[in-house]
Amino acid sequence: MTQVLVGVVGAGLMGSGIAQAAAVAGHEVLVHDSNGAQWNHARGVIEASLGKLVEKGKLTPEALLAARERIRFVPTLEDLAPCDVVIEAIVETLAPKQALWQALEKVCRTDTLFATNTSSLSVVDQTIGLQHPERLIGLHFFNPVPMMPLVEVVRSVQSSPQAMLAGLEFVAGLGKTAVTTRDESGFIVNLLLVPYLLDAVRALERGVGSMTDIDAAMKLGAGHPMGPFTLLDFVGLDTVVKIGEIIFDQYRETRYAPPPLLRRMVAAGYTGKKSGKGFYDWTGDVPAAMELGL
Ligand code: CAA
Ligand code: NAD
Repeated sequence: MTQVLVGVVGAGLMGSGIAQAAAVAGHEVLVHDSNGAQWNHARGVIEASLGKLVEKGKLTPEALLAARERIRFVPTLEDLAPCDVVIEAIVETLAPKQALWQALEKVCRTDTLFATNTSSLSVVDQTIGLQHPERLIGLHFFNPVPMMPLVEVVRSVQSSPQAMLAGLEFVAGLGKTAVTTRDESGFIVNLLLVPYLLDAVRALERGVGSMTDIDAAMKLGAGHPMGPFTLLDFVGLDTVVKIGEIIFDQYRETRYAPPPLLRRMVAAGYTGKKSGKGFYDWTGDVPAAMELGL
């Protein structure tokens, strides 16, 4: 896929990263979020990430300026009408995703590629009520998007071969590696990664080790780039609870069931790095382990 007009819906953790990756790859990008206050936050996140890439010599200052210029925040879904590709990265709940695609189908051309960044919902469930379900595929990016080289490209039972090819070409154009997966809840990575993250919380609940020891153990003993509690904070505890519930609902296997501690933390507003507090307090210069009364 050559340079195209990309629409991104949802300017949170993932949407801001996807918008940045697309802009760095030379695409013009329109970003929409239903929460206008999120725009400034997303702008700041993108700015900081582009700055880091320049600092590390992975991007020239000129390329930073050009990428920044290519991203525009738009107030309505109708503004996405001219897009060639629209990627959604809104909340991990089926009904709003279905409503979004139905609304976008009314404003976009019939040949616009639709892609969901869902972590665990089925792609085909999102096509309910669509006239053209064949153009919806999954493009599952990983967090942090600017750093993670993988995208899972997901074919639903209705996705057309043309849509899959367009998705694969788009991912290659971003300089990322694609793997194709069936439309099974969790795809490849989350099917394996989510039970591991939930098991870490269960190990903490059972007192197998402290949070910081479990994190250190998995880094130093298993060669993971970050421990499970740091990763939970990166992904967002609210998102992990939703993903766990959805995969559990699909397979009825207890290893996908979110443990009580995780739910309590979300209830307390400790959703991880994005809110400033999760298993760690991220508001200081260095992350500090939270006192969770365990
Ligand atoms: N933008 C730009 N640059 C960034 C960045 C960002 N958002 N985050 C980190 N960097 C840069 C740093 O500046 C640094 O550059 P140098 O190597 O040139 O010094 C480099 O990346 C490494 O950063 P750090 O030293 O701070 O940290 P690190 O070595 O631990 O790497 C990491 C960071 C790539 C995030 C690494 O820790 C990692 O791979 N962690 C695991 C992430 C992971 O598992 N993600 C998947 C989550 S699951 C998911 O996404 C699916 C889902 O549906 C939930
Ligand atoms: P987030 O909470 O950081 O951001 C979601 C954004 O969507 C928010 O800014 C919110 O205002 C906006 N939004 C919600 N409903 C909307 C709507 N109807 N229209 C427009 N904007 C809307 O969430 P996130 O972590 O970026 O996750 C987004 C999606 O990406 C989810 O489906 C999630 O499962 C998936 N995902 C997350 C990760 C991760 O590590 N967090 C990784 C891969 C995929």
